[in-house]
Amino acid sequence: MTNIHYKKAAVIGYPVRQSLSPLMHQHWMRQMGIEGEYEAIEVAPEYLGAFVLEAKKIGLSGFNVTVPHKTEILQYLDKIAPLARQIGAVNTVKITPDGRLTGYNTDSLGLVTHLKSIAPDFPHDRPALILGAGGAARAAALGMLGENIPMVMISNRTRSKAEAIAADVGRGRMVVVDWHARSEAVVAAGTVINTTSLGMVGQPPLSFDLSGAAKDTVIYDIVYKPLETALLNQAKSLGLRTVDGLGMLVHQGAAAFKIWFGETVAFDAELRIKLEAAL
Ligand code: ATR
Repeated sequence: MTNIHYKKAAVIGYPVRQSLSPLMHQHWMRQMGIEGEYEAIEVAPEYLGAFVLEAKKIGLSGFNVTVPHKTEILQYLDKIAPLARQIGAVNTVKITPDGRLTGYNTDSLGLVTHLKSIAPDFPHDRPALILGAGGAARAAALGMLGENIPMVMISNRTRSKAEAIAADVGRGRMVVVDWHARSEAVVAAGTVINTTSLGMVGQPPLSFDLSGAAKDTVIYDIVYKPLETALLNQAKSLGLRTVDGLGMLVHQGAAAFKIWFGETVAFDAELRIKLEAAL
């Protein structure tokens, strides 16, 4: 007999073995007394459609979506939340008992929630400077445009991608900064957010000079492996406030948990210890 109280959720990606999401969601399920499981499922791109059928059949409450499926998943959804449509990427899918799929993007909320939890008084009188122009940059741009700041500057090696984001979501409140001028732009920024993969384990370092930053500037790196990137290290040595990438991961996860199970969960010390040990 099926146990209707037994909840199942998952994260899909390719590869997905390195994902910290199972640890995090299992922690919360136990904490909230939700009987069930959350697993990482490796889904090759050609099997994405087959996975969606299977997910309905086995009664998943929902699933997280990571690289490389965040855009491809859109074609399988019955409904897409407005923010996810604007970002053009879905990281959370909810499946209702009638088998209908709704896509959300909780990256944007996760990024801003974490920033505000660490630096609630981040400078609101100066622009944010976003480095990168991938899906994470788009989520960061939309999140920061929702805050009460004058505008968002965006800089990317491939300038045309930054221009596309500014044109799509900027509504006149985004400017593109040339990649070669990124260090000069720091002078005007209140918040700096690295969304590129630079500085991550196995990737080249991010060459970026923070010496022109005002003392109250907040430096946020969404890379969490390593937890203290060279960028954050440089910021600390200059006495600037820093925000690491682990919290964004956790807060996007908490928002997904709420969507599936209706429960509000927190980034508690025990979870941080578990995640840091698993990094
Ligand atoms: P995500 O969806 O997670 O944001 P992505 O779409 O792969 O990931 O984006 C990676 C970002 O890192 C891009 O902004 C990329 O710049 P390009 O658009 O020019 O490719 C940036 N990036 C990756 N390697 C880089 C490098 N060696 N120098 C500068 N930027 C780099």
